[in-house]
Amino acid sequence: MNIEQIFINNHAWIAEKLKTDSDYFKNLALGQNPEVLYIGCSDSRVTAEELMGVNPGEVFVHRNIANMVTNIDLSAMSVINYAVNHLEVKHIVVCGHYYCGGVKAAMQSADLGILNPWLRNIRDVYRLHRAELDAIQEEEQRYNRLVELNVQEQCVNVIKTSDVQKAFKSRNLVVHGWVFDIKTGKLLDLKIDFNHILHEIMEIYRII
Ligand code: CO
Repeated sequence: MNIEQIFINNHAWIAEKLKTDSDYFKNLALGQNPEVLYIGCSDSRVTAEELMGVNPGEVFVHRNIANMVTNIDLSAMSVINYAVNHLEVKHIVVCGHYYCGGVKAAMQSADLGILNPWLRNIRDVYRLHRAELDAIQEEEQRYNRLVELNVQEQCVNVIKTSDVQKAFKSRNLVVHGWVFDIKTGKLLDLKIDFNHILHEIMEIYRII
């Protein structure tokens, strides 16, 4: 890619936006009021806004390798804190994707340096769900099931935070687990039963 092309694209994008609304950027500068926090993978094939068909200003986005919500990750914790307490989002989405390189790496024995502690969290997800995963014979199916279970566990990590627990008590906030299927472009709702999971884990993780 010619990096200069990006600036040419940017000029074309500005012109396109101003053609339909001459105040587009003036209004954008007024502030943001997103109702959704999206936590997804950094994978270049899994965009946030484009796959959801949303416009700038509609979704607060956090992306990292394998859409992880790790309790000592200052970045993810700050994003959740800001989105829940200040933006007062109504939905938190953790969106994984099939054929995730981060999840794949966590299924293999390889020393990946600084990535080891990051991916170790996915190995922990494997250990938590070992019986189910080991029962899946076909490797691709097992890999994609781990993608789904990783989304589920990261959703659980979202509800372990005090910000989210406080919000649950005082207002309407829903956590969603989704997977993007790269092979079809479809966004799938895993329909995780959070009431059940919340009930199961809150005895241990209740903070407030
Ligand atoms: Co990925």
